[in-house]
Amino acid sequence: MDRLTRTLFGSDFEWGVSTAAFQIEGACDADGKGESIWDAFTAKKGKVIGGHKADIACNFYYNFKEDIDLLKKLHIPNFRFSISWTRVLPDGTGKVNQEGINYYNRVIDYCLEQGIEPWLTVYHWDLPQELEQKGGWTNRQIVDWFSNYTEICARSFGDRVKHWMVMNEPSVFSGAGYFFGIHAPGRTGIKNFLPVIHHVVLSMVAGARKLREILPDANIGTTFSCSHIEPASQSKRDIAAAHRADALVNRLFIEPVLGLGYPVNEIPVLSDMQKYILPGDEENMHFDFDFIGLQNYTREIVKYSFLTPYIHARLVKAAQRKVPLTAMGWEVYPRAIYHILKKFDAYPQIKKIIITENGAAFPDDLIDGNVADVQRLDYIRENLQQILAARQEGVNVQGYFVWTLTDNFEWAEGYHPRFGLVHVDFETQQRTIKSSGYWYSDFLKG
Ligand code: GAL
Repeated sequence: MDRLTRTLFGSDFEWGVSTAAFQIEGACDADGKGESIWDAFTAKKGKVIGGHKADIACNFYYNFKEDIDLLKKLHIPNFRFSISWTRVLPDGTGKVNQEGINYYNRVIDYCLEQGIEPWLTVYHWDLPQELEQKGGWTNRQIVDWFSNYTEICARSFGDRVKHWMVMNEPSVFSGAGYFFGIHAPGRTGIKNFLPVIHHVVLSMVAGARKLREILPDANIGTTFSCSHIEPASQSKRDIAAAHRADALVNRLFIEPVLGLGYPVNEIPVLSDMQKYILPGDEENMHFDFDFIGLQNYTREIVKYSFLTPYIHARLVKAAQRKVPLTAMGWEVYPRAIYHILKKFDAYPQIKKIIITENGAAFPDDLIDGNVADVQRLDYIRENLQQILAARQEGVNVQGYFVWTLTDNFEWAEGYHPRFGLVHVDFETQQRTIKSSGYWYSDFLKG
């Protein structure tokens, strides 16, 4: 294979790193910020490994200049970050907290001064706790709450921010947060999950339309998590189970947004959503996004399972398959991203794909001021090779964002999984660029 160079991807290809407010900012109650569901969830016993909290996290709120300087030093031209809803609207609705707006203005302005393009995610999982008390995503009023919040973001930052993502991975925050209860707000069961799915879809579209109305020239996308899925065997039952799992993991949120409706045939329990779908909703479920953000980390192997409710399919854990693993227990399988790109490129409604997250956690060692994270470096390089292969076969993929710049708060897993190109000592907040960071920098420099 040819040496991997930036030029092979073309001059318009967007390169960056991704982050999320709750995972890096800290300053959990500074300058009028309200409580989010993740503040409330991490305060409860037994929800996060090690009882870790994100009150300080990477201290990005106070140290953002240092991290943006690192971006510049590493030749990373695009920076994806999210807005914390409760900094802007402490109660989710009502009075705007000007201090929160001022903070994001400082971050955006500093990026632009350094020649770095900001890419904003409106919602990366940190719902205002005040809204959760009113039902959160299960309450249909959230469509208005979310549009109002998006409108404030668009009017406050849209004069300088050209690239927008409405939501981050709806299937994860609704599935983990409202069905399995392993993420905030920790609710469980199909009764919560079904209305949440529909309200999330309506909100994603309402938010996107607000952005389009206020910022007609903006580049508007939204992001989806996706895993390449294969059946455990060639038996009819496993193949059908893999098909159902694929509908749940990869199709549930994107297909309605593309105008294709919910995958009810594969997941019959979705027909119980009918009671939440009101007359006129169908017109408000799709949007013509400028780009679709895909976030892929691994592949999953799926087996028929009589005992698993609703989809009769279960994952065969990577640890049981004797394959290389990341610190998250996910299989290292770079070919997955190639399959995902081919799969989503086949939807004629998708105009452009950007890989808005891809990366890996490994247990890094800081030795004599160096982190030789060869596994992460190889992971990123091999994933890029697969993206290039897809692109050379005509897939319209136009960007790649590494998850993530610095090690940070990895949700229910706490601080143990380290995903950064830059190591963080959480005691001292000292940053150390890892080998992968230097590699990405050299690659971007050409
Ligand atoms: C994504 C998520 C990120 C990050 C990453 C690594 O699902 O958007 O916030 O945590 O996974 O697990």
